[in-house]
Amino acid sequence: MAENIHNIHTQASTSSAVLIRRIWREFMSPYKGTILIALFFMFIDAAMTVTFAKLLQPAMDEVLIAVQDDPAKVNSIWGYVAAILVTFVVRGCVSYIHSVLMSKMSQSVIADIQASLFGHFMLLDLGFFKNQSSGGLVSGVVNDVAVMRATVTDSIVGLGKNVLTLVGLLGLMIYQDWKLSLIVFATFPLAMFLVVRLGQRIRKVSKKLQNEIADLSSLLVGLFQGIRQIQAYGAEKVEIKRTQAVIHNVRDLNIKSAQISHLNTPINEILVGFVIAGIMVYGAFQIAAGVLTPGTLISFIGAFSLAYEPMKKLARLNNSIQQGLGAAERVFRYKDLTPAIRNNEGAKTIDFEQAEIAYKNVSFAYDDADGALIDDFTLTLKPQTVTAFVGPSGSGKTTLMNMLPRFFDVGAGSIEINGENIQGLTTECLRGHIALVSQDVFIFDDTVTRNIAYGTDEIDQDKVIAAAKEAAIHDFILSLPDGYNTRLGEQGTRLSGGQKQRISIARALLKEAPILLLDEATSALDNESEKLIQQTLNKLQKGRTTLIIAHRLSSIQGADNIVYIDKGRIVQQGQHDTLIKSNGPYKKLYQGNIDI
Ligand SMILES: Nc1ncnc2c1ncn2[C@@H]1O[C@H](COP(=O)(O)OP(=O)(O)OP(=O)(O)O)[C@@H](O)[C@H]1O
Ligand SMILES: [Mg+2]
Repeated sequence: MAENIHNIHTQASTSSAVLIRRIWREFMSPYKGTILIALFFMFIDAAMTVTFAKLLQPAMDEVLIAVQDDPAKVNSIWGYVAAILVTFVVRGCVSYIHSVLMSKMSQSVIADIQASLFGHFMLLDLGFFKNQSSGGLVSGVVNDVAVMRATVTDSIVGLGKNVLTLVGLLGLMIYQDWKLSLIVFATFPLAMFLVVRLGQRIRKVSKKLQNEIADLSSLLVGLFQGIRQIQAYGAEKVEIKRTQAVIHNVRDLNIKSAQISHLNTPINEILVGFVIAGIMVYGAFQIAAGVLTPGTLISFIGAFSLAYEPMKKLARLNNSIQQGLGAAERVFRYKDLTPAIRNNEGAKTIDFEQAEIAYKNVSFAYDDADGALIDDFTLTLKPQTVTAFVGPSGSGKTTLMNMLPRFFDVGAGSIEINGENIQGLTTECLRGHIALVSQDVFIFDDTVTRNIAYGTDEIDQDKVIAAAKEAAIHDFILSLPDGYNTRLGEQGTRLSGGQKQRISIARALLKEAPILLLDEATSALDNESEKLIQQTLNKLQKGRTTLIIAHRLSSIQGADNIVYIDKGRIVQQGQHDTLIKSNGPYKKLYQGNIDI
């Protein structure tokens, strides 16, 4: 792994400009067209606002004030009223159009981010998932990305409509009275300074908040999965308390974030109050001196009042952008993780029907462990033979098996299939030739058929049924309400441990792969079923190179080679009869407990 995932919570911030450029390049640029059209409508929207503010001046000077001296002038109000109405109608319509366009764009962008993030997760290696809680990953795809959505819309509407409106109105203000405009502009640097400071604090809180939400999600997923244990140990109250603490953390951070972002309001209101007061005083003296007409002042105040709204939104925009960037940082951290297991340059695809597997001086250590777990391990598995790994718990049997489909890569040495280093093969080719039945069977929330034919694009129902029959699960499937079309529920909730095992055996049968890996495949079965399944497994092993890990020695007595492993090294190997004659650890294991 290029980067340990725990760092996601702690790493230093990336600069805003870098993040924004990256969001644009990777996710928003495909929607350039839509964004441009939306910007065009925003431009019209802004132009209408400015036109309205401008119209206030002649309406005031030429009609409302003039009418006091000459009542006949009242009729010229109609022209201005019509013009003002047009500005509002047009503004209403274009505003609808650009809002809908922006929603379409932002929803699509978010869907793209979610799909690409999930797609990326699928490529990451097992080592990554072992260090990650699934709740945290779900939170990344759902919450972080949702926070980014608001940012994407807000930023474009903000930079489009609000900036355009603001620029137009400020232009009008300068046109009406540039000196008066100076009073107003003098307050801007102060306002900007405060906005930026607030934004920085918000981003920090937002990142913390998203981390906290991820923690909450992983806690919840863990608890729901472990509900049986929780209830069995009467730990409900403890868990409620523990969860409440995290929920309260999230609440507190949300409140803190709101407190900071709402600080914008008092700051703005007070500033605006001073500015309006300044304009009034200055304006009154100017009108008295005959330099300014009342219409110009009204138009000026109108423009300023209208400008206040986009200004406020732009101030808030920074908050929203900072929140989104906090989330984007987390999303990109995930996206930047490179899978440790990848197809090497020039990786080949080969086809083979028989496999000779050779572990050659293989050593291995997990990232966080000190000292090698597997140490100079050499073993050949002849084609169409059955090899069994036995040995104490934690001796490295599963680890050795996991290296064959490259769930983990060897630290040193190599594993070869028919003389080809597995690292020179594509993972699709390698894994396509391996069927795996393990202790932790995973059943997908899908139909029985799809669970058995898992990973195949075109399902041959006859083959599925044949496999189910061989795995001794056909009759049970027929007894389900919809037979083969019955959905099995999340993690196969409708199935017993043994039934799950049989489904996974049927899955392996259907795959017809030359290499078969069985990691305690029969552990969930009772003695009676095990005998039944054993016959199936024996059939399954025919013509294949099989590697079995079994705790019940009864199931491996017929193996061609039994390898006793301790602390990652081979201590003894041979057939059952030979091993039982020598006075080694296998004999002890066999005599001590057939059922360890
Ligand atoms: N992903 C991992 N990260 C770090 N250490 C691991 C990981 N998986 C296993 N280990 C450690 O490596 C050692 C060997 O584990 P492994 O699963 O290979 O043992 P095993 O021989 O299959 O044991 P068992 O018979 O109990 O299944 C154990 O000490 C285990 O704690
Ligand atoms: Mg194991």
